[in-house]
Amino acid sequence: MQLLFTLQTVASAITIAAAASPQPTPIPPPTGSYYVGERKLAVARTNPNNFTLPTNLISDFLATIFYPTKTEGRTAPYLESVTAQEWAQVYNISVDLLTSLTAKLAIDAPGLSNASQYPTVFFGPGGGGPPTEVYTTLLSDLASHGYNVIGIDDPHEQQYIRWPNGTGYYGSGAEDETTDETVYVRLAETTTMIDRLDLVEKALGTKVNRHLLGTFGHSAGGDAGLASMLYDRRILSSVNLDGPFQGGPFGEDGTTVPDFKRPVFLFGTGVHETTAVDPTWNETFPVNQTGYWREVVVKGSLHIDMSDITFWKDTAGVHSANLGPIDGRRMVNITRTWTRAFFDYTLLHCREAGKLFNGPSSDWPEVEFKAGSNGSHHHW
Ligand SMILES: *[C@@H]1O[C@H](CO)[C@@H](O)[C@H](O)[C@H]1NC(C)=O
Ligand SMILES: *[C@@H]1O[C@H](CO)[C@@H](O)[C@H](O)[C@H]1NC(C)=O
Ligand SMILES: *[C@@H]1O[C@H](CO)[C@@H](O)[C@H](O)[C@H]1NC(C)=O
Ligand SMILES: *[C@@H]1O[C@H](CO)[C@@H](O)[C@H](O)[C@H]1NC(C)=O
Ligand SMILES: *[C@@H]1O[C@H](CO)[C@@H](O)[C@H](O)[C@H]1NC(C)=O
Ligand SMILES: *[C@@H]1O[C@H](CO)[C@@H](O)[C@H](O)[C@H]1NC(C)=O
Ligand SMILES: *[C@@H]1O[C@H](CO)[C@@H](O)[C@H](O)[C@H]1NC(C)=O
Ligand SMILES: *[C@@H]1O[C@H](CO)[C@@H](O)[C@H](O)[C@H]1NC(C)=O
Repeated sequence: MQLLFTLQTVASAITIAAAASPQPTPIPPPTGSYYVGERKLAVARTNPNNFTLPTNLISDFLATIFYPTKTEGRTAPYLESVTAQEWAQVYNISVDLLTSLTAKLAIDAPGLSNASQYPTVFFGPGGGGPPTEVYTTLLSDLASHGYNVIGIDDPHEQQYIRWPNGTGYYGSGAEDETTDETVYVRLAETTTMIDRLDLVEKALGTKVNRHLLGTFGHSAGGDAGLASMLYDRRILSSVNLDGPFQGGPFGEDGTTVPDFKRPVFLFGTGVHETTAVDPTWNETFPVNQTGYWREVVVKGSLHIDMSDITFWKDTAGVHSANLGPIDGRRMVNITRTWTRAFFDYTLLHCREAGKLFNGPSSDWPEVEFKAGSNGSHHHW
């Protein structure tokens, strides 16, 4: 069974976009007290675990860093123009609707001098795209609260990325031939990125934290973030946004999920409301776990609502069978708040943030608790 949800092929584009030329519209602004910097790096992939990796011709991956800065950003369209074109096509909307979306980011600004006081977290986008930039609302929000966030795009998997030197690269826009390859390539890239934090420090002109490390990702990115945690002991905590366990250490069908022994947050959409679509979450995963974990689902959301595309519903008239009825801005609030709370709790040991995970609350009526455990040990 093919479990990984490929975002673009499932998008059923049925929208008719408004004809008038759209006004610039800001994406939901970050909620933290810092301005947000953005910087891109090309990083050479190494193969530290000696996996057999496909597509060896492509040796660099793209790291997009979102980080706190004292430099105020400039408001500008937030998507690369080719990315906007690609995704306007996927959703059959006018490209103006996407190029009119803006964000205030301080491109290449220096990092905070005390950046190392805050955790460093590594993000993986959905399988076969969209790329990291289509998760800017979530990533820039974490950065505004101090986190140094590194999104990792595999150029082969994405439809398009632009390298820091300006060269555009068109990939396949599809996952690798097998999910094993997809997972192992991403795993190698994540581990390489952790090894090469010196490049990040050089780019930002400041030290970053090398101990408080977490992974998170959407779909295949969440799956690979957890696979990375199994192989790389430096990763202390992980958030999986709606990704089934599949490939690599989990087997092609996700039938083997070892004990992570560290905090795991399965943060799902309506796709995980029942086991019908993905039995790996509530049937396979819990069997071996001894660590702290939670599984929640956001009622009214569907798979793609975990990306920025959730608010393209309202601002750009995007429709898809994989977007739920939940209000896009509300979904952004939920995704941001719960992801950060999990990292605040498990990396910074913030008790207040941990309270969110004790059970349902009237502030978050959409968030349904499915399962969880406080773990038999607290190594974190
Ligand atoms: C795309 O949108 C146009 C109207 O803007 C419509 O005529 C066309 O049928 C749509 N194509 C698909 C495949 O839905
Ligand atoms: C990688 O693994 C292969 C197959 O097991 C082995 O032949 C090779 O020597 C290993 N390479 C390194 C650098 O460890
Ligand atoms: C980092 O420095 C800023 C001032 O630039 C300060 O507001 C913030 O509290 C510091 N953060 C930590 C964790 O020390
Ligand atoms: C730009 O950077 C990419 C990634 O490092 C590299 O593959 C490409 O050759 C570079 N292009 C130029 C024109 O230097
Ligand atoms: C539990 O972990 C063991 C050892 O990693 C593995 O063999 C087994 O398949 C796992 N069980 C499940 C249900 O994932
Ligand atoms: C998994 O979730 C489904 C739907 O909520 C539920 O019926 C089933 O009992 C759950 N399975 C386990 C092992 O908790
Ligand atoms: C996010 O949701 C919480 C809980 O419902 C609410 O208190 C808060 O004001 C919301 N924040 C934003 C920015 O909408
Ligand atoms: C975990 O511990 C908290 C605080 O003691 C408690 O409120 C919660 O019910 C526990 N949750 C689980 C799933 O055991």
